[in-house]
Amino acid sequence: MLEKLSELEKEFETSLGSLDAQADVLNLKSLYLGKKGKISEILKSLKDVDPETRRTLGPKANEIKSNFQTLINNKLDSIDISVINEKLKESRIDITFTDDLKEKGLFHGGYHPRTLVQREIEDIFLSMGFEVLDGPHIEDEFYNFEALNIPGDHPARDMQDTFWLEDPDSEEGKKHLLRTHTSTIQIRGMLERKPPFRFIAPGTAFRCERTDASHEMVFNQLEGMMVGKNISVSNLIYFMKTILKEIFKTDVKVRLRPGFFPFVEPGFELDIECLICKGKGCSVCKQSGWVELLPCGMVHPNVLKSGGIDPEEYNGFAFGLGSDRLVMMKYGIEDIRHLQSGDLRFNSQFESY
Ligand code: DAH
Repeated sequence: MLEKLSELEKEFETSLGSLDAQADVLNLKSLYLGKKGKISEILKSLKDVDPETRRTLGPKANEIKSNFQTLINNKLDSIDISVINEKLKESRIDITFTDDLKEKGLFHGGYHPRTLVQREIEDIFLSMGFEVLDGPHIEDEFYNFEALNIPGDHPARDMQDTFWLEDPDSEEGKKHLLRTHTSTIQIRGMLERKPPFRFIAPGTAFRCERTDASHEMVFNQLEGMMVGKNISVSNLIYFMKTILKEIFKTDVKVRLRPGFFPFVEPGFELDIECLICKGKGCSVCKQSGWVELLPCGMVHPNVLKSGGIDPEEYNGFAFGLGSDRLVMMKYGIEDIRHLQSGDLRFNSQFESY
Protein backbone atom coordinates (compact mmCIF):
# COMPACT_ATOMS: atom_id res chain seq x y z
CA MET A 1 0.00 0.00 0.00
CA LEU A 2 2.81 2.39 0.92
CA GLU A 3 4.49 1.64 -2.38
CA LYS A 4 1.26 2.27 -4.21
CA LEU A 5 1.08 5.67 -2.55
CA SER A 6 4.57 6.71 -3.56
CA GLU A 7 3.94 5.53 -7.13
CA LEU A 8 0.80 7.61 -7.13
CA GLU A 9 2.84 10.60 -6.00
CA LYS A 10 5.35 10.22 -8.85
CA GLU A 11 2.63 9.64 -11.39
CA PHE A 12 0.79 12.75 -10.21
CA GLU A 13 3.86 14.97 -10.36
CA THR A 14 4.80 13.85 -13.90
CA SER A 15 1.26 14.40 -15.17
CA LEU A 16 1.02 17.82 -13.54
CA GLY A 17 4.40 18.89 -14.97
CA SER A 18 3.27 18.16 -18.51
CA LEU A 19 0.09 20.29 -18.30
CA ASP A 20 -0.23 23.95 -19.17
CA ALA A 21 -3.96 24.49 -19.62
CA GLN A 22 -6.24 25.35 -16.74
CA ALA A 23 -8.92 22.82 -17.81
CA ASP A 24 -6.41 19.93 -17.90
CA VAL A 25 -5.16 20.81 -14.42
CA LEU A 26 -8.74 20.82 -13.11
CA ASN A 27 -9.35 17.41 -14.69
CA LEU A 28 -6.22 16.06 -13.03
CA LYS A 29 -7.45 17.49 -9.75
CA SER A 30 -10.71 15.59 -9.90
CA LEU A 31 -8.91 12.44 -11.06
CA TYR A 32 -6.82 12.42 -7.88
CA LEU A 33 -8.67 14.51 -5.33
CA GLY A 34 -12.28 14.23 -6.44
CA LYS A 35 -14.87 12.25 -4.45
CA LYS A 36 -14.16 9.19 -6.55
CA GLY A 37 -10.53 10.14 -7.13
CA LYS A 38 -7.50 7.99 -6.57
CA ILE A 39 -6.67 9.40 -3.15
CA SER A 40 -10.23 9.07 -1.91
CA GLU A 41 -10.24 5.46 -3.06
CA ILE A 42 -7.13 4.81 -1.01
CA LEU A 43 -8.55 6.57 2.04
CA LYS A 44 -11.76 4.54 1.72
CA SER A 45 -9.84 1.28 1.39
CA LEU A 46 -8.13 1.96 4.73
CA LYS A 47 -11.12 0.58 6.56
CA ASP A 48 -10.21 -2.94 5.30
CA VAL A 49 -6.60 -2.92 6.53
CA ASP A 50 -5.35 -3.87 9.98
CA PRO A 51 -5.23 -1.05 12.58
CA GLU A 52 -1.44 -1.04 12.72
CA THR A 53 -1.08 -0.31 8.97
CA ARG A 54 -3.98 2.14 9.11
CA ARG A 55 -2.11 4.18 11.73
CA THR A 56 0.85 4.78 9.40
CA LEU A 57 -1.02 4.87 6.11
CA GLY A 58 -3.79 7.23 7.20
CA PRO A 59 -1.59 10.25 8.00
CA LYS A 60 0.62 9.57 4.96
CA ALA A 61 -2.37 9.54 2.61
CA ASN A 62 -3.69 12.78 4.11
CA GLU A 63 -0.27 14.41 3.78
CA ILE A 64 -0.11 13.44 0.09
CA LYS A 65 -3.61 14.77 -0.40
CA SER A 66 -2.72 18.19 0.97
CA ASN A 67 0.54 18.21 -1.02
CA PHE A 68 -1.38 17.57 -4.21
CA GLN A 69 -3.76 20.37 -3.34
CA THR A 70 -0.85 22.84 -2.89
CA LEU A 71 0.85 21.74 -6.12
CA ILE A 72 -2.39 22.18 -8.04
CA ASN A 73 -2.97 25.66 -6.61
CA ASN A 74 0.57 26.72 -7.49
CA LYS A 75 0.17 25.39 -11.00
CA LEU A 76 -3.13 27.25 -11.47
CA ASP A 77 -1.52 30.49 -10.22
CA SER A 78 1.38 30.20 -12.63
CA ILE A 79 -1.01 29.51 -15.51
CA ASP A 80 -2.95 32.68 -14.58
CA ILE A 81 0.25 34.73 -14.70
CA SER A 82 1.34 33.38 -18.04
CA VAL A 83 -2.13 34.03 -19.50
CA ILE A 84 -1.85 37.68 -18.35
CA ASN A 85 1.66 37.96 -19.79
CA GLU A 86 0.48 36.61 -23.12
CA LYS A 87 -2.35 39.17 -23.19
CA LEU A 88 0.08 41.99 -22.37
CA LYS A 89 2.39 40.87 -25.16
CA GLU A 90 -0.46 40.97 -27.66
CA SER A 91 -1.59 44.46 -26.63
CA ARG A 92 1.90 46.00 -26.74
CA ILE A 93 2.07 49.08 -28.96
CA ASP A 94 5.25 50.21 -30.65
CA ILE A 95 5.29 53.97 -30.06
CA THR A 96 8.65 54.62 -31.69
CA PHE A 97 8.52 56.61 -34.86
CA THR A 98 9.96 54.06 -37.24
CA ASP A 99 11.25 54.58 -40.78
CA ASP A 100 8.37 52.43 -41.85
CA LEU A 101 5.90 55.03 -40.54
CA LYS A 102 7.88 57.88 -42.11
CA GLU A 103 7.63 56.14 -45.49
CA LYS A 104 3.88 55.98 -45.08
CA GLY A 105 3.96 59.78 -44.91
CA LEU A 106 2.84 60.08 -41.28
CA PHE A 107 3.42 63.48 -39.75
CA HIS A 108 6.15 63.85 -37.18
CA GLY A 109 5.42 65.94 -34.05
CA GLY A 110 7.81 68.02 -31.98
CA TYR A 111 7.97 69.79 -28.64
CA HIS A 112 6.69 73.34 -28.72
CA PRO A 113 9.68 75.69 -28.55
CA ARG A 114 8.13 77.30 -25.45
CA THR A 115 8.29 73.93 -23.68
CA LEU A 116 11.90 73.43 -24.70
CA VAL A 117 12.98 76.86 -23.48
CA GLN A 118 10.95 76.68 -20.28
CA ARG A 119 12.52 73.34 -19.34
CA GLU A 120 15.96 74.72 -20.06
CA ILE A 121 15.39 77.84 -17.95
CA GLU A 122 13.90 75.83 -15.09
CA ASP A 123 16.95 73.57 -15.06
CA ILE A 124 19.31 76.54 -14.92
CA PHE A 125 17.43 78.17 -12.03
CA LEU A 126 17.01 74.88 -10.16
CA SER A 127 20.78 74.44 -10.34
CA MET A 128 21.13 77.86 -8.68
CA GLY A 129 18.85 76.89 -5.79
CA PHE A 130 15.57 78.46 -7.00
CA GLU A 131 12.17 76.81 -6.47
CA VAL A 132 9.67 76.67 -9.35
CA LEU A 133 6.20 78.01 -8.41
CA ASP A 134 2.85 78.18 -10.15
CA GLY A 135 -0.16 80.46 -9.67
CA PRO A 136 -3.72 81.02 -10.92
CA HIS A 137 -4.57 82.77 -14.20
CA ILE A 138 -7.64 84.36 -12.63
CA GLU A 139 -6.59 86.81 -9.95
CA ASP A 140 -8.11 89.72 -8.07
CA GLU A 141 -6.98 93.33 -7.94
CA PHE A 142 -5.04 92.74 -4.75
CA TYR A 143 -2.52 90.26 -6.17
CA ASN A 144 -2.34 91.79 -9.64
CA PHE A 145 -2.13 95.46 -8.62
CA GLU A 146 -2.51 96.67 -5.03
CA ALA A 147 -0.02 94.38 -3.35
CA LEU A 148 2.46 95.22 -6.09
CA ASN A 149 2.31 98.91 -5.27
CA ILE A 150 0.18 99.71 -8.31
CA PRO A 151 -2.38 102.28 -7.16
CA GLY A 152 -5.89 102.55 -8.53
CA ASP A 153 -5.06 105.17 -11.15
CA HIS A 154 -2.04 103.38 -12.67
CA PRO A 155 -2.20 103.03 -16.48
CA ALA A 156 -1.74 99.25 -16.21
CA ARG A 157 -5.26 99.14 -14.80
CA ASP A 158 -6.61 100.76 -17.91
CA MET A 159 -9.58 98.96 -19.42
CA GLN A 160 -7.53 98.69 -22.63
CA ASP A 161 -4.91 96.48 -20.99
CA THR A 162 -6.75 94.35 -18.50
CA PHE A 163 -9.31 91.65 -19.17
CA TRP A 164 -11.74 92.23 -16.29
CA LEU A 165 -14.13 89.46 -15.38
CA GLU A 166 -17.73 90.25 -14.76
CA ASP A 167 -18.62 89.56 -11.17
CA PRO A 168 -21.41 91.88 -9.96
CA ASP A 169 -21.15 90.67 -6.37
CA SER A 170 -17.45 91.25 -5.84
CA GLU A 171 -16.49 93.88 -3.28
CA GLU A 172 -14.38 96.91 -4.06
CA GLY A 173 -10.71 95.83 -4.31
CA LYS A 174 -11.69 92.23 -5.02
CA LYS A 175 -12.66 92.53 -8.68
CA HIS A 176 -11.45 89.56 -10.72
CA LEU A 177 -9.32 89.70 -13.84
CA LEU A 178 -7.00 87.62 -16.01
CA ARG A 179 -3.54 88.30 -14.59
CA THR A 180 -1.70 90.87 -16.70
CA HIS A 181 1.69 89.63 -15.50
CA THR A 182 3.25 86.81 -13.52
CA SER A 183 4.34 89.29 -10.81
CA THR A 184 1.21 88.16 -8.90
CA ILE A 185 3.24 85.13 -7.84
CA GLN A 186 5.74 87.38 -6.08
CA ILE A 187 3.02 88.10 -3.52
CA ARG A 188 1.71 84.54 -3.33
CA GLY A 189 5.28 83.24 -2.99
CA MET A 190 6.22 85.73 -0.25
CA LEU A 191 3.08 85.07 1.79
CA GLU A 192 3.77 81.34 1.79
CA ARG A 193 7.42 81.36 2.91
CA LYS A 194 9.91 83.01 5.23
CA PRO A 195 13.12 84.67 3.96
CA PRO A 196 15.68 83.85 2.75
CA PHE A 197 14.17 82.28 -0.40
CA ARG A 198 14.47 82.38 -4.15
CA PHE A 199 11.94 81.19 -6.71
CA ILE A 200 10.86 81.49 -10.30
CA ALA A 201 7.33 81.28 -11.66
CA PRO A 202 6.85 80.60 -15.36
CA GLY A 203 3.34 81.19 -16.70
CA THR A 204 0.86 82.79 -19.06
CA ALA A 205 -0.27 86.42 -18.83
CA PHE A 206 -3.12 88.18 -20.65
CA ARG A 207 -3.49 91.70 -22.00
CA CYS A 208 -6.16 93.25 -24.11
CA GLU A 209 -3.76 94.55 -26.76
CA ARG A 210 -3.59 94.94 -30.49
CA THR A 211 -1.35 92.14 -31.75
CA ASP A 212 1.71 92.57 -33.96
CA ALA A 213 5.03 90.78 -34.59
CA SER A 214 6.10 91.23 -30.99
CA HIS A 215 2.79 91.51 -29.07
CA GLU A 216 0.18 88.88 -28.29
CA MET A 217 -2.89 89.03 -26.04
CA VAL A 218 -1.88 85.74 -24.45
CA PHE A 219 1.83 85.46 -23.81
CA ASN A 220 4.33 83.83 -21.49
CA GLN A 221 6.53 85.37 -18.84
CA LEU A 222 8.83 84.02 -16.20
CA GLU A 223 8.84 85.84 -12.91
CA GLY A 224 11.74 85.53 -10.53
CA MET A 225 12.38 86.69 -6.99
CA MET A 226 15.15 86.45 -4.45
CA VAL A 227 14.74 87.77 -0.91
CA GLY A 228 17.29 87.70 1.88
CA LYS A 229 19.70 89.96 3.76
CA ASN A 230 22.03 92.46 2.07
CA ILE A 231 21.12 91.57 -1.51
CA SER A 232 22.55 94.12 -3.93
CA VAL A 233 22.08 95.36 -7.48
CA SER A 234 25.30 93.55 -8.43
CA ASN A 235 23.74 90.25 -7.26
CA LEU A 236 20.82 91.03 -9.55
CA ILE A 237 23.02 91.80 -12.54
CA TYR A 238 25.15 88.71 -11.94
CA PHE A 239 22.08 86.43 -11.98
CA MET A 240 20.61 88.07 -15.06
CA LYS A 241 23.85 87.80 -17.04
CA THR A 242 24.43 84.19 -15.99
CA ILE A 243 20.97 83.21 -17.14
CA LEU A 244 21.34 84.83 -20.54
CA LYS A 245 24.77 83.28 -21.04
CA GLU A 246 23.48 79.80 -20.14
CA ILE A 247 20.48 80.11 -22.39
CA PHE A 248 22.20 81.47 -25.47
CA LYS A 249 25.40 79.46 -24.84
CA THR A 250 27.42 82.53 -25.75
CA ASP A 251 27.94 86.06 -24.47
CA VAL A 252 25.09 88.15 -25.88
CA LYS A 253 25.32 91.94 -25.97
CA VAL A 254 23.22 93.41 -23.17
CA ARG A 255 22.41 96.93 -22.09
CA LEU A 256 20.98 98.09 -18.80
CA ARG A 257 18.76 101.16 -18.66
CA PRO A 258 16.77 102.67 -15.84
CA GLY A 259 13.16 101.52 -16.06
CA PHE A 260 10.06 102.33 -14.04
CA PHE A 261 7.91 99.61 -12.52
CA PRO A 262 5.90 100.44 -9.41
CA PHE A 263 6.99 97.23 -7.66
CA VAL A 264 10.76 97.83 -7.83
CA GLU A 265 13.06 100.65 -6.80
CA PRO A 266 15.44 101.16 -8.52
CA GLY A 267 14.04 99.45 -11.64
CA PHE A 268 15.91 98.49 -14.80
CA GLU A 269 15.27 97.42 -18.35
CA LEU A 270 17.74 94.82 -19.46
CA ASP A 271 17.80 94.64 -23.26
CA ILE A 272 19.70 92.25 -25.50
CA GLU A 273 20.90 92.94 -29.00
CA CYS A 274 18.24 91.65 -31.41
CA LEU A 275 19.37 88.23 -32.59
CA ILE A 276 16.92 88.20 -35.49
CA CYS A 277 18.57 91.12 -37.31
CA LYS A 278 21.88 91.13 -35.37
CA GLY A 279 21.20 94.69 -34.24
CA LYS A 280 20.43 96.12 -37.69
CA GLY A 281 16.75 96.75 -37.00
CA CYS A 282 13.67 94.65 -37.86
CA SER A 283 9.95 94.37 -37.02
CA VAL A 284 10.64 92.37 -33.85
CA CYS A 285 12.94 95.01 -32.33
CA LYS A 286 10.87 97.84 -33.81
CA GLN A 287 13.92 98.83 -35.91
CA SER A 288 15.91 99.68 -32.77
CA GLY A 289 18.35 96.74 -32.83
CA TRP A 290 17.53 95.98 -29.16
CA VAL A 291 14.87 93.80 -27.54
CA GLU A 292 13.47 94.43 -24.05
CA LEU A 293 13.86 91.05 -22.46
CA LEU A 294 14.44 91.27 -18.75
CA PRO A 295 12.83 94.07 -16.79
CA CYS A 296 14.03 93.84 -13.21
CA GLY A 297 14.87 95.74 -10.05
CA MET A 298 15.20 95.79 -6.28
CA VAL A 299 11.89 94.87 -4.63
CA HIS A 300 10.01 97.95 -3.41
CA PRO A 301 9.62 98.05 0.42
CA ASN A 302 5.82 98.34 0.03
CA VAL A 303 5.80 95.08 -1.92
CA LEU A 304 7.82 93.29 0.75
CA LYS A 305 5.30 94.57 3.31
CA SER A 306 2.39 93.20 1.24
CA GLY A 307 4.15 89.84 1.31
CA GLY A 308 4.44 89.97 5.11
CA ILE A 309 8.19 90.70 5.09
CA ASP A 310 9.90 93.43 7.12
CA PRO A 311 11.76 95.72 4.65
CA GLU A 312 14.00 96.95 7.50
CA GLU A 313 15.43 93.47 7.85
CA TYR A 314 15.25 91.97 4.36
CA ASN A 315 15.57 93.10 0.77
CA GLY A 316 15.73 91.41 -2.61
CA PHE A 317 15.41 91.59 -6.36
CA ALA A 318 12.74 90.58 -8.84
CA PHE A 319 12.59 90.16 -12.59
CA GLY A 320 10.01 89.41 -15.25
CA LEU A 321 11.63 87.59 -18.14
CA GLY A 322 9.69 87.94 -21.40
CA SER A 323 9.95 84.23 -22.14
CA ASP A 324 8.13 84.33 -25.51
CA ARG A 325 10.61 86.94 -26.70
CA LEU A 326 13.41 84.77 -25.46
CA VAL A 327 12.05 81.83 -27.47
CA MET A 328 11.93 84.05 -30.54
CA MET A 329 15.52 85.22 -30.07
CA LYS A 330 16.84 81.74 -29.42
CA TYR A 331 15.22 80.15 -32.46
CA GLY A 332 15.13 83.14 -34.80
CA ILE A 333 11.30 83.30 -34.90
CA GLU A 334 10.31 86.58 -36.50
CA ASP A 335 6.67 86.79 -35.39
CA ILE A 336 5.32 86.02 -31.91
CA ARG A 337 1.98 84.97 -33.41
CA HIS A 338 3.55 81.76 -34.78
CA LEU A 339 3.81 80.52 -31.20
CA GLN A 340 0.05 80.35 -30.78
CA SER A 341 -0.82 79.47 -34.35
CA GLY A 342 -1.29 75.76 -33.63
CA ASP A 343 0.34 75.10 -36.99
CA LEU A 344 2.02 71.69 -36.80
CA ARG A 345 4.40 72.62 -39.62
CA PHE A 346 5.78 75.26 -37.25
CA ASN A 347 6.04 72.96 -34.22
CA SER A 348 7.65 70.12 -36.14
CA GLN A 349 10.74 72.22 -36.86
CA PHE A 350 11.85 71.89 -33.26
CA GLU A 351 13.19 68.98 -31.25
CA SER A 352 11.18 65.85 -31.97
CA TYR A 353 9.60 63.53 -29.42
N1 DAH B 1 5.49 92.60 -14.46
C1 DAH B 1 6.18 93.41 -15.43
C2 DAH B 1 5.42 93.42 -16.75
O1 DAH B 1 4.73 92.52 -17.03
C3 DAH B 1 7.57 92.90 -15.69
C4 DAH B 1 8.48 93.07 -14.51
C5 DAH B 1 9.24 94.21 -14.38
C6 DAH B 1 8.57 92.09 -13.55
C7 DAH B 1 10.12 94.39 -13.35
C8 DAH B 1 9.42 92.27 -12.45
C9 DAH B 1 10.21 93.44 -12.39
O2 DAH B 1 9.56 91.38 -11.49
O3 DAH B 1 11.06 93.58 -11.35
O4 DAH B 1 5.58 94.32 -17.50
